[in-house]
Amino acid sequence: MAADQTSIVVPPSLSAKVVGSFAYLTVKDRLPTILTKVIDTIHRNKNKFFEEYGEEGIQAEKQTISLLSKLRNELQTDKPIVALNDGLADADSWNRYLLRQQGLQGDQEVVSWFKSPWLFVECYMYRKIQEALWLNPPISDYDVFNEGKTQSFFESQQAIMTLCTYFEGISKNIDDISEHHLQLHFNQLLKVSLWGNKCDLSISAGMENSQKSSPIDSLVSLQPFILVDHSDAVWSTLISTRRQQQSGKACSTRVDIVLDNAGFELVTDLVLADFLVSFGLAHEVRFLGKSFPWFVSDVTSNDFHWTIRQTMAANHKWMSQRGVQWQRYVKEGVWSYHDHPFWTQPHEFCDMATEAPDLYATLQEANLVLFKGDLNYRKLAGDRDWDHTAGFEAALRGFGPAPLCSLRTLKANIQVGLQPGQGSKLSSQDPDWMTSGKYAVIQFYSPNSEQ
Ligand code: F6P
Ligand code: MG
Repeated sequence: MAADQTSIVVPPSLSAKVVGSFAYLTVKDRLPTILTKVIDTIHRNKNKFFEEYGEEGIQAEKQTISLLSKLRNELQTDKPIVALNDGLADADSWNRYLLRQQGLQGDQEVVSWFKSPWLFVECYMYRKIQEALWLNPPISDYDVFNEGKTQSFFESQQAIMTLCTYFEGISKNIDDISEHHLQLHFNQLLKVSLWGNKCDLSISAGMENSQKSSPIDSLVSLQPFILVDHSDAVWSTLISTRRQQQSGKACSTRVDIVLDNAGFELVTDLVLADFLVSFGLAHEVRFLGKSFPWFVSDVTSNDFHWTIRQTMAANHKWMSQRGVQWQRYVKEGVWSYHDHPFWTQPHEFCDMATEAPDLYATLQEANLVLFKGDLNYRKLAGDRDWDHTAGFEAALRGFGPAPLCSLRTLKANIQVGLQPGQGSKLSSQDPDWMTSGKYAVIQFYSPNSEQ
């Protein structure tokens, strides 16, 4: 049964206007640090731009840096957020959002970096980085975050090999595996994908982002840090679809994965998707990613295909075997990558049905949608100051195109669906519990089930 939306009091958006809050510290410290790193990366690649585009490349480097320095200055001095005028296809939608925001804030307060919703201004910063590059054509396709993403992949080689060796071990029994064992392996790979989300570059402003230890061996010691674990409900959704399908009552099963970070996290998502397909729990997996570099480490089409190629080329038998299989899935259309402008806009997901009805309609065709990571969680719950005991369904505010699950390590001060007292106990034990990435949730909602 859908939550009665009329009875829900929607809390305010998180914002840097609350001095000392995580949003405030992010806008004050972390975002300028990220911008400085972006500027530095572009500057370090000056020679490369010259080699590729001659003097035009050098001019583009200078102009991009000048736009980004201006942006950093505007952010740090809390200047008004201005409408986009760069001719990119999504500019109108951004400007409509800005107008709405101006309406919400009223005449007294301008929309600005420190006064407006954190989700909006943080997304706006990444969109403005894209604009700075886009306005300088020879380097408009340059991914300023590429170095960090590839580094995360290479520094996690050991963990990737361990994961692929584990996969090889379980796939020996593919034909006669019991449902019980299938569930055990599913649980493990779901949780590997969950903890893969620890490895993002945005939270650390680009510092630590790789996985060094064995992802499977760590699972037992990490279990107590999963604050809400709905993995049984995710499993039930998949297995019941498989049973219906085996009895001829359903056609093929589709799982959509709304991706988060490249590097190690993406590999964990690919391994999970591989498991779902190889063991007959899904017939099709659609990977939904970003159309331009986003939140430092998020997956773009280029990252997706690069990761598969690199895995294929690895000098490790089981790793390269997985890569070959992944490439085959892509070639056969069993796996596909899709981006959509909505994923790089600031909207809460409850607005998807009106803002991006085509995307909403596509998600409705999935049997299960997995939302990876913290930013997706913020958008699912609207990045609002919810009471921790507010229900996940209530926070979704009507968003529910299909059974869905958030796999998220906590890196922002928003959390719903906890037991009474759970939040305050955590706050007294570990004041940073919501932002350190040490805790995680697996939260499920199905529009089909009575809640
Ligand atoms: O501020 C921390 C932060 O940059 C958040 O803005 C964002 O939610 C998160 O890190 C990125 O994490 P993830 O890659 O898991 O979405
Ligand atoms: Mg991310």
